[in-house]
Amino acid sequence: MAAKKYPAKAHAIKVATHLSLLSPLHSGGPTALFVLASPQSRLWPFCDQSQPFRQNRYFYYLSGCDLPDCYLTYDTATEKLVLYLPPIDADDVLWSGMPKSIAQTKEALNVDDVKYVTSLDEDLATCGDKVVYTIESLTGPEHATYLSKLATAVESVTVADAHFMTALDEARMIKDSFELDLMRHASSISDNAHAKVMASATAATNETHIHAEFIYHSIRAGSKNQSYDPICCSGRSCSTLHYVRNDDEVMGRQLLLIDAGAEWKNYASDVTRTFPLSGDWTTEALAIYNLVLEMQISCEKAIAPGKSWDELHLLAHQIMIRGFLKLGLFTRGTEDEILESRVSSAFFPHGLGHMIGMDTHDTGGMPNYADPDPMFRYLRIRRNLQPGMVVSVEPGVYFNPFMIEPYLKAEDAYKGGEYIDQAVLEKYWDVGGVRIEDDVLVTESGSENFTKITKDPVEISKIIKSGQRV
Ligand code: GLY
Ligand code: MN
Ligand code: MN
Repeated sequence: MAAKKYPAKAHAIKVATHLSLLSPLHSGGPTALFVLASPQSRLWPFCDQSQPFRQNRYFYYLSGCDLPDCYLTYDTATEKLVLYLPPIDADDVLWSGMPKSIAQTKEALNVDDVKYVTSLDEDLATCGDKVVYTIESLTGPEHATYLSKLATAVESVTVADAHFMTALDEARMIKDSFELDLMRHASSISDNAHAKVMASATAATNETHIHAEFIYHSIRAGSKNQSYDPICCSGRSCSTLHYVRNDDEVMGRQLLLIDAGAEWKNYASDVTRTFPLSGDWTTEALAIYNLVLEMQISCEKAIAPGKSWDELHLLAHQIMIRGFLKLGLFTRGTEDEILESRVSSAFFPHGLGHMIGMDTHDTGGMPNYADPDPMFRYLRIRRNLQPGMVVSVEPGVYFNPFMIEPYLKAEDAYKGGEYIDQAVLEKYWDVGGVRIEDDVLVTESGSENFTKITKDPVEISKIIKSGQRV
């Protein structure tokens, strides 16, 4: 039986459907032609080394092709999807081997036709009365040349048209079963790599060792690219959200936070685990860990179609405030007064999560980074959940002086510092930070968690100690 192919054609039809709903131009008017370029292969300036290649996500979505220097066209009237490959270059064959032929590419991909790029101009010249939609996938002079070629070939070209971009983003936001299987596989590779990291923790003397362990087990499982640069921090550095130095000695530090996700065929996973380097939790670290775990599990359980992400984010803050009152980190005020002051944002400054897909921070979330409310400013999803969305659920609690001090000093817009008990806070600086992050699919009936690596603090200790050297 032939292997299932990446559903590029179905994606093109889906984008066209969204576009026809969004744009009056296409309800009975002229039909559209999508023309997209994949990025050019490049050398680093003044250097005989090629730059790492990352396929443009929109190009991949509409073609399933992972090569540079290609083009695609999709005609919404005839529903014909055509991929254009770069012509065979003798030098390239000498150094890099023979590329796939037209026939092999046609066999491998879910497109209607495959041609060489040399046919593109002629095909465009005969495409008739169409509105051409393209995006800025090329940069610099190559983009200008490409646009002027398009402009001479067709009546009208729109670059990054707002309706077209929305159509692409909305289509990408709801994953089909083929994409979901790719994401489940990416998650399973991350699960294994995170387990290996925990088991090797006591042997690590530097954050680099943790980073290396994760990458090693990802690559062994066939994932050569990470979804993003791994974040491997220890001690007080756990309070830096996107710490990527990953090069400090870990001796004497309480916690290690690793936020790392393997990529599988251009689809991401995004997973965070936090654990004690020795296998033994300090009282303060365990208290904060259990609080973040409660925030994480409660929000994950509440995921269902129609749920407002704002409300889930608020729920995480409410649980945190209750927990801080119990621990004595907050004092005096009521839960409502503390929530109203927004001082919980000093300790949980980011959003509960984001869409995940080909990009780690995937399309469709409709964030509002200009929101005057600090609690919602960095929330990357501002809409209700729908089946087929995959979201990260990643609450965190951090003890970062840069974030907390403006509240303690009651600077400008920073309210609620009076609710923080500074004597109690002193005991928590060395915890640094805790984040727990899973990748969750919204289903018709609720949710499916793709991330299986344990987050139970007792089990985590056991795994760490199972790897302890004697
Ligand atoms: N790894 C980046 C994030 O969690 O958003
Ligand atoms: Mn994330
Ligand atoms: Mn992450």
